Amino acid sequence: MHAVRLHAFGPAENLTYEEVADPEPGPGQVLIEVAAAGVHLVDTALRQGLQLGPTPAPTELPTVPGREVAGRVTALGADVAPKWLGRRVVAHLGMVPGGYAELAVTGTERLHTLPDDVAPEQAVAVVGTGRTAMGILQFAEGLGPRDTVLVLAAAGGIGSLLVQYAHRAGAHVIGAAGGPAKTAAVRELGAHEAVDYRAADWTSRVSRKPTHVFEGVGGDVARAAVDLLAPGGSHLSYGYASTGFDPSGLAVLDETEQAARGVTSQVVLGEPMFAKIGGMRNLRVLEERAMARLADGTFRPPVHRFPLAHASRAHRALEERATTGKVVLTPCAPPWHPSAPGGRGRGVGAGAAEARPPSRGHRATATEPGPTGQGLGCAGRAARPAGAAVAEPGAVRGRAPERGPGGGPPE
Ligand SMILES: NC(=O)c1ccc[n+]([C@@H]2O[C@H](COP(=O)([O-])OP(=O)(O)OC[C@H]3O[C@@H](n4cnc5c(N)ncnc54)[C@H](OP(=O)(O)O)[C@@H]3O)[C@@H](O)[C@H]2O)c1
Repeated sequence: MHAVRLHAFGPAENLTYEEVADPEPGPGQVLIEVAAAGVHLVDTALRQGLQLGPTPAPTELPTVPGREVAGRVTALGADVAPKWLGRRVVAHLGMVPGGYAELAVTGTERLHTLPDDVAPEQAVAVVGTGRTAMGILQFAEGLGPRDTVLVLAAAGGIGSLLVQYAHRAGAHVIGAAGGPAKTAAVRELGAHEAVDYRAADWTSRVSRKPTHVFEGVGGDVARAAVDLLAPGGSHLSYGYASTGFDPSGLAVLDETEQAARGVTSQVVLGEPMFAKIGGMRNLRVLEERAMARLADGTFRPPVHRFPLAHASRAHRALEERATTGKVVLTPCAPPWHPSAPGGRGRGVGAGAAEARPPSRGHRATATEPGPTGQGLGCAGRAARPAGAAVAEPGAVRGRAPERGPGGGPPE
């Protein structure tokens, strides 16, 4: 199969697209032919060998990064019920990487069956990022029409889901994001107001004081947002994307200031989130809630697609704040996928350069050009020996990052 491997910690260009041996499902596991693989900002930290929160940096290299996949079950390990064979599924792989690949293995306890009308890209955009969103929203119970919600990085993976949730709850939604294209995207998501927080005076453009601030950005921009909070308001922090993975950038208020202003301010990722669901082992509960929100149309995740072969570009784009929505890698479409040559429906596979019209609940925002014509597609899949690297434009080892990435604690 083709997979993206990391041989040495470092910049995005260290991710190389290669032919490697197919994984084998062990007892209790299935083999998934991957149609979509999720990418996180956190993946860019792991790529550099950084340990963030409970997610350890890889201990063995080379590794195939990525922990979210959607696709079809094509083989079963021992002791797996035959019903799984052929099912369309999505899974968060847990602490085990292996997602940036044409084939992935995981245990049946991690699988969610996809309804027929849910595209793999949508599902993979929700299984992990949506579970984090639902984990955050546990701290905003009763959100409703009397509330004003300010979401930072509102065009991003988590941000877009929070905007959609708050809109559905009837709240007045203000989305803040970097640049006019992103603020336009935020309005499309359902925000009543969208402000560009790259402008120095952005807080003066916010029409009313928020009762809730949701932010995973940290730093000065988060502090400015928290200063807007209405008395009695709540600040929920779930990351620090703007601070180059430096947790000191968290914008949480100390107890004295919280008391003086009559607001609450807390980090909700990690232990506080796990405590609400009875421990980290119960993260599946949040996945199920997120998948239910996808099914009922609350979540309509915008997806920024890159061909699997261009994972390094996807990482770079995340680090450069050049993505909108959830970043998803798409391998060459397997024969059963609607986008495959001769398959049902329209193209979303490698090489598809157009944004696909939305299926139910889906809002494709961008599709990066695929590897067609660059010798990186499905053609010749069996021609290279396992371990042989495939030359990819930009996949040059050892070049230093142009700028520091941002990020936050992983789920
Ligand atoms: N996805 C998850 O499941 C998950 C889990 C745990 C924690 N988190 C944390 O939640 C936050 C959002 O994660 P996400 O996956 O949804 O990412 P994302 O929002 O899709 O991407 C990060 C966004 O943060 C903003 N940003 C501001 N300064 C940045 C910088 N210096 N470098 C990069 N981005 C910057 C950018 O939006 P603008 O251009 O609009 O500013 C960028 O698009 C991050 O802090 C992440 O670490 C995410």
